[in-house]
Amino acid sequence: MDIVALMGSPRKHANTDMLLDEMIKGAQSNGHNVIKHCISDLEVHPCRGCGVCVSGRDCVFDDDGLKVTHEIAEAEGLIVSTPIYFGQMTGDLKVLLDRLFGITNNPFISLSGKVALIFTHLGPEGYYDSYIELTKIQPFQMNMHYQILDVLDVGNLGDVRNQPEKFAEAFEIGKKF
Ligand SMILES: Cc1cc2nc3c(=O)[nH]c(=O)nc-3n(C[C@H](O)[C@H](O)[C@H](O)COP(=O)(O)O)c2cc1C
Repeated sequence: MDIVALMGSPRKHANTDMLLDEMIKGAQSNGHNVIKHCISDLEVHPCRGCGVCVSGRDCVFDDDGLKVTHEIAEAEGLIVSTPIYFGQMTGDLKVLLDRLFGITNNPFISLSGKVALIFTHLGPEGYYDSYIELTKIQPFQMNMHYQILDVLDVGNLGDVRNQPEKFAEAFEIGKKF
């Protein structure tokens, strides 16, 4: 089964990316094919709310956002990873997730399957729980129909390499797919 993995940090090989790679390895060890996207490499136009997708037609923007949102719709699993920027996911990730509106409103395709989330931040672990809980519900459960597999919340960063137990946790969550 295909899983799409979204890397929401602009910093490659840094905290979020390293944890995501470990979760991907866990999923691969369980026989899954994982397609990873570093969102900052993509050209994704922000949704302009024109409503064309509500009639079942494709988004007016024929860009990487269209390609990746269709890929997500076809996949059976999704991994979403992001650093916390000013209390929320990065802007790059939000812009891409907003484009999933084009799928949630299309009567011919839908978003479902399993989703795992990774959040990295400087604050203490649990500090962003209320934001994380909200994100689990909306968009992933309310607007989409994902089963939340697990959430990896990694605080006190720094450098995640100082928390080797988090790599093991990421791998184990990946194996749950
Ligand atoms: C623009 C910006 C805003 C940030 N805002 C927060 C924040 O609100 N809370 C927090 O704990 N950390 C914040 N951070 C720190 C990052 O979440 C943290 O360094 C994270 O591990 C970065 O992930 P990365 O190494 O994968 O890029 C911010 C960093 C940046 C660059």
